[in-house]
Amino acid sequence: MKRIAILASGTGTNTENIIKYFKNSSLISVTLVLSNKKEAKVLEKATRLGVTSSYFDKNSFRNTNAVFTILKEQADYIVLAGFLLKIPLKIIEAFPNKIINIHPALLPKYGGKGMYGMHVHNAVVKNRETASGITIHYVNENYDEGAIIFQKSVEVLVCDTAEDIAQKIHVLEQENFPKVIEKVILENG
Ligand code: GAR
Repeated sequence: MKRIAILASGTGTNTENIIKYFKNSSLISVTLVLSNKKEAKVLEKATRLGVTSSYFDKNSFRNTNAVFTILKEQADYIVLAGFLLKIPLKIIEAFPNKIINIHPALLPKYGGKGMYGMHVHNAVVKNRETASGITIHYVNENYDEGAIIFQKSVEVLVCDTAEDIAQKIHVLEQENFPKVIEKVILENG
């Protein structure tokens, strides 16, 4: 059984979807959800779905081995589902090609520090893009720059608001993220 730990900072719609997707799998399971935000809705969602969840603070993440040790002991893969902190190098090195992130844009466009959630969709509207999409990629030491695993685009209409785009991206994420995670794990072992 390959064990996934999810790191998330927000609402947790992706986390919920991933947990449900692997619920009956005999090969892959979500064993842990960790968040750097104590009040994040994702923690409640995970607990409700029967997955152990807990909170850590930014300083212990950056400056101690606490989170690293938990991940090393309890996970084979790490999935970032709306997680907004940079991953310490020690964790990246300990999980080569085993940390997967989803980004709500077609990288390399609209990536980097500060480009997350609605900031991305607002920028897409401002620049009158005709398409946006999702990128699922491995995580390296730079924000949003690891090797791309999967991308899917969606049309952006002239009349679309940032909220409309967010909704389209949400649908793409729900349809694709768990399947791509599954494929990576089954292929890479
Ligand atoms: C998702 O849209 C994800 O792509 C994005 O945050 C949202 C989290 O939603 N991630 C980033 O912007 C990372 N730079 P959720 O908490 O409902 O899953």
